[in-house]
Amino acid sequence: MYSDDESNSVDPGFFAVKRNAASVPDPDTAGFLDEQKIIYEQLKISHAELQSTNKELLSAIEQQAAVIQQATADLRTNEEQYRSVLSGLSEGVISHRGDGVIDAWNLSAERILGLSGEQLMGRTSFDPRWRAIREDGSPFPGDAHPSVEVFRTGLAQSNVIMGVHKPDGSLTWILINALPIFRSEDSVLSRVVVSFADITERKRVKDKLRLSDLALKAISQGVLVTDAEEYILSANDAFEAITGYRRSEILGQNCRFLQGALTSADTLISIRQDLNSKKSFSGEILNYRKDGSTFWNELTISPVRDAKGKLTHFIGITRDVTERKNASDKIRQLSLALEQSPEMVVITNTDAVIEYVNEVFVQSTGYSREEVIGKNPRMLGSGHTPLKNYIELWDALTQGQPWSGNLYNRRKKVN
Ligand SMILES: Cc1cc2nc3c(=O)[nH]c(=O)nc-3n(C[C@H](O)[C@H](O)[C@H](O)COP(=O)(O)O)c2cc1C
Repeated sequence: MYSDDESNSVDPGFFAVKRNAASVPDPDTAGFLDEQKIIYEQLKISHAELQSTNKELLSAIEQQAAVIQQATADLRTNEEQYRSVLSGLSEGVISHRGDGVIDAWNLSAERILGLSGEQLMGRTSFDPRWRAIREDGSPFPGDAHPSVEVFRTGLAQSNVIMGVHKPDGSLTWILINALPIFRSEDSVLSRVVVSFADITERKRVKDKLRLSDLALKAISQGVLVTDAEEYILSANDAFEAITGYRRSEILGQNCRFLQGALTSADTLISIRQDLNSKKSFSGEILNYRKDGSTFWNELTISPVRDAKGKLTHFIGITRDVTERKNASDKIRQLSLALEQSPEMVVITNTDAVIEYVNEVFVQSTGYSREEVIGKNPRMLGSGHTPLKNYIELWDALTQGQPWSGNLYNRRKKVN
């Protein structure tokens, strides 16, 4: 450090004294003194120049110090900002040193992994306590963890799903991204920063949906979902199989395309009324497949409401009941024929218990249906039928053969 202080200025007598002390021969005292003066003047100039240079240097150093001070303050502010951003993140972030050891993390990492700072500090991906698994439930070995992959390849890893066990034994599913951090001076991979989101809940919902999808695929009933305006949003495989329409052809449409000339107008009015009053509909309706053939559709339509009770969707369940409907129609026709037959008809089961009698029976015997159904036909016996007729009758019937002959029955006694 230099100063303008008088004490630092050079004394002109100094050189004269020095010269005397050295006992220099005295050639020409006047010339010598002139010379000394000149040197002295030059030294004075150099000294002034030095002082001014010093001043400049000093001010440059001071400026530099101020710049460094500002940069340090900026760095500190930046670091604080990064720290508060990191601690405010809902995602977990952990940083692995060059040797793979975890040496930094944020609070969300502790929360998601269920680990304290002490438990995280110093862990590596190879620690068996992670008990990590893949989505299919198979083990996720440490040497395949995303952080290790980044160390091995130098490449970022993204969207890796991993299940890790917390110390309490529960399983947490995380979606991981891992980034390599290179040293700026020599581009050597020095760190890996891993960020991860807790997707346990998302995965639970997704798994549940997948299960519902599988169930919808597996069932034989057609299932249709429409929005509140009755436009189709989705249909399962069975709906495609029953109707012959591909999902892509019907999405966004109303189900009316299944109806045709023979579809009952009354049924359509009932559907319309039920849907307008946001009620369920259940009934049979004649529908048309894509190829124009008809089928009987046992249809149920249910409204779906959200938590606030607002109608959001309808679900339609379709079952092809054509065979059952045809069979029951046939049975209805046959029973009508039996009912209207001019002959007396009695139907028993194989234990000879009467199950059906027709109208002619009721008229001829005087017994009501309620009086004979569930009874043995022997109640009708008059005692005049030869025993062998009964034996032949039951022999034939138990062998599945028809029998015809005469039985002498009695009418109900009327008091
Ligand atoms: C979820 C849902 C499923 C339906 N499924 C059928 C169906 O399989 N067959 C059919 O004829 N109509 C079906 N409909 C009924 C028609 O879309 C429509 O409501 C009916 O034709 C009565 O309304 P409209 O008078 O406006 O035509 C369904 C409706 C909804 C909301």
